[in-house]
Amino acid sequence: MSKKTIIVSNRLPVTVNKNAEDGSLSFHPSSGGLATGLSTTYKQGGNLWIGWPGTYGHDDQEKVHIEKELKKDNMAPVYLTKEDVNKFYEGYSNKTLWPLFHYFTEYATYEKELWDSYIHVNELFLQAILEHAEPEDTIWVHDYQLLLLPGMLREALPDATIGFFNHIPFPSYEIFRLLPWREETLEGVLGADLIGFHTYDDMRHFLSSVNRLLGYDSSLGLVKVKNRLVSVDAFPMGIDYDKFEQAADSSKTKQKVIAYGDLLSKNKSILSIDRLDYSKGIKHRLLGFDKFLSKYPEYQGEVSLILLVVPSRDKVDQYQHLKEEIDTLVGKINGKYSRMNWSPIHYFYRSFSFDGLSALYKASDVGLVTPLRDGMNLVCKEYVASKTDQQGVLILSEMAGAAKELSEAILINPNDENQIVEALHNALTMPEEEQRSRMKEMQKKVRRYNVHRWVEIFMNQLDNIKEKQMAMNSR
Ligand code: F6P
Repeated sequence: MSKKTIIVSNRLPVTVNKNAEDGSLSFHPSSGGLATGLSTTYKQGGNLWIGWPGTYGHDDQEKVHIEKELKKDNMAPVYLTKEDVNKFYEGYSNKTLWPLFHYFTEYATYEKELWDSYIHVNELFLQAILEHAEPEDTIWVHDYQLLLLPGMLREALPDATIGFFNHIPFPSYEIFRLLPWREETLEGVLGADLIGFHTYDDMRHFLSSVNRLLGYDSSLGLVKVKNRLVSVDAFPMGIDYDKFEQAADSSKTKQKVIAYGDLLSKNKSILSIDRLDYSKGIKHRLLGFDKFLSKYPEYQGEVSLILLVVPSRDKVDQYQHLKEEIDTLVGKINGKYSRMNWSPIHYFYRSFSFDGLSALYKASDVGLVTPLRDGMNLVCKEYVASKTDQQGVLILSEMAGAAKELSEAILINPNDENQIVEALHNALTMPEEEQRSRMKEMQKKVRRYNVHRWVEIFMNQLDNIKEKQMAMNSR
């Protein structure tokens, strides 16, 4: 049998929904970056994507239906129970690892019960993979929900080629060492042959923890783990550039821009798009905008903030609190400055269609992307790719991985309200020629290092390290 590639992530690139009234199942493909970037890989031949379909509580008949539908597109499910979702997904993944890895140490909880569930679900993923994998297949595991899986796979399939990519920041040693299960976690990740991060800093932090907690030395990104060589490197993830560029000039986008009317045409507009998350700095951004309107009152009535917050993890306390805080802040700011014919903030708490996003990217004057901490941030790259006329200014937080590449953006420290205020002022007064030259430079980079190239580079490096290991073992 020929070797195949198996992609593994917590979520499948399709979400299954069960209609509460008639119990019917529907399947919703994701248009996210990872799904697009990997589509040519997992849809080919015998390749496969294994993950959670996003629901729980299915009976045997429904499972047969789900499996049949997913199989059509080379996907296979890992089923989670309600308890798994609560303890593994909302629990250890998003109440322990997510806050800790984003430097929100005060939000992180350390509960043995959640850790046990994390081990259990990583084992469920292992079992699902073993139902399909051959000993020499290539398996590419994604993200912080599955940090133990590479180690489990290495034990079960010693000769497999295993890649791991961490999509969120990897914290510095001083933060990572707070985790009670830090050694087991590192050993889990080191089961891979190649470990990828978005930035060089994340990679350095990981290697520092590996050295200080496990005592393994590394040289030039190679770690010797017992008798294996593990490669660790930075691979900044990109977007499907062509998709955003083409959409920006499509008739569908033009119609949307017209449909949005005054929102985009009459006033200047500042665009803010995020999943609901405390790491995104939405509150800081709102406070900065409030201060901007107060310091530069000539912009009252002239500029609006379009605030899109996409619902996420709404069963987790911190997310529920954040939603309430954002609602309150938006209300306060709108109450303070609104006029009969103008609102400072247009707030949407929902998902938008792709055409809707494209229209907002294309027609807004400023992209305001100010996370307090972000592994990469693809919104800013989508904004850049959509600016086909090169008009528009990107304000970007230094704390986003993307800031390492997009140095022509106005870079700010999101904790400094004054920097947000002055960046907004600079952006809204920037001459067209300067907007064009900055945007052109950013477009060159985002176009070149797109998501397809990201997959290609990672996969090539994974093959290389495997060859190096084989050569080492045959000596
Ligand atoms: O990139 C971070 C990440 O957690 C992904 O793993 C995930 O698919 C995405 O953000 C959305 O989060 P969630 O799966 O919790 O909705």
